[in-house]
Amino acid sequence: MKRSVVVILSLLAGAVSLIAQERPSANLVLTPPMGWNSWNKFGCNVSDDMIRQMADAMVKSGMKDAGYQYIVIDDCWQVSRDAAGNIVADPQRFPSGIEGLADYVHSLGLKFGIYSDAGSKTCAGRPGGLGHEYQDAIVYAAWGVDYLKYDWCNTTTQDARASYANIRAALDTAGRPIVLSICEWGKAQPWLWGKEVGGNLWRTTGDIQDRWAGKKEWKPGDCCSYGVVDIADAEADLYSYAGPGHWNDPDMLEVGNGGMTDVEYRSHFSLWAMLAAPLIAGNDLRNMRPEIRDILTNKEVIAVNQDPLGSQGRRVSKDGDREVWSKQLRDGSLAVILFNRGPAEQNIVATWETIGYPAHVTASVRDLWQHKDVGKITGKFSVSVPSHGVVMVTVKP
Ligand code: GLA
Repeated sequence: MKRSVVVILSLLAGAVSLIAQERPSANLVLTPPMGWNSWNKFGCNVSDDMIRQMADAMVKSGMKDAGYQYIVIDDCWQVSRDAAGNIVADPQRFPSGIEGLADYVHSLGLKFGIYSDAGSKTCAGRPGGLGHEYQDAIVYAAWGVDYLKYDWCNTTTQDARASYANIRAALDTAGRPIVLSICEWGKAQPWLWGKEVGGNLWRTTGDIQDRWAGKKEWKPGDCCSYGVVDIADAEADLYSYAGPGHWNDPDMLEVGNGGMTDVEYRSHFSLWAMLAAPLIAGNDLRNMRPEIRDILTNKEVIAVNQDPLGSQGRRVSKDGDREVWSKQLRDGSLAVILFNRGPAEQNIVATWETIGYPAHVTASVRDLWQHKDVGKITGKFSVSVPSHGVVMVTVKP
């Protein structure tokens, strides 16, 4: 190749990488985002007071120290648009405006997130973003928004990929680094294009509900909400699409909302950690039982979720109700869960060959819920697991 061509090509490559680096949203959420969102517990019952209390509780409970960062108001903060088309927050529920609330959240060292919708109306029937994308992005940036969850209700014939590319371009033009959470419920397979359009996470299914298992129609013909294990099954084969800055989102956590046992909540949290899922708590942080707080702040399990390699775990064996899932960690070790979906306690075996090591390897096994070293083990790890429970370990050669 001629020298002049090489020079031109390398200049072009430099320019392209500079543009890529200059996107204000580059390098966000290099590990899965952690935070809290109002929807699962409070639905439309959101207010300035409640959100401030939740931010305070995130600090007091030790969740901030454990890595939680984003406080996200979901649907129903907005009531109308003014004559100029600007979005208007509910003046009764948010008397100091969204900006005042964002300032408060920031003053605690936390980040602030908000919700809108790609269509004409949100899922709760509030004004959506359609046709106001650039106008809204400027307002969000001025308010200090760090995270936008963008829903998919009332989008009629809109193209999902184009709609999300449009809001990402609007956010980037507004100039503030804002995480884009694509909430399109997996309908147009956002894992195939979410990263390319600048999405940082994308929902893979319909909404989670606070139950162990079972897909349920919202109303006849309107599918569906899902239990924890249904969502885990839906994500099991999507591992190749996740990585630093772009994550599959199996929806927010239900830990602590009362519909499952503590054993089930521990499994829910462990599975989400293994899936490199966003850890967005969805319970009332002001009055958690210690058992719930201990689940949400288990630093050893969180470290698996936040491992900088950003690899999503996968199911490596299934024998009826007995499953083994394995997640590669940056230091060469693996996180493993032995997961009992059945109705009674049973023994589960993880052989080294199944999880990804040769059988002759001797490895240190550590239990991440007991916070105890199990010992040095060769070939396989075998353990009794309660019904609907997991044993979660790291295996380090
Ligand atoms: C959809 C989303 C939920 C929540 C509600 C709000 O159902 O999937 O996560 O944001 O809308 O109306």
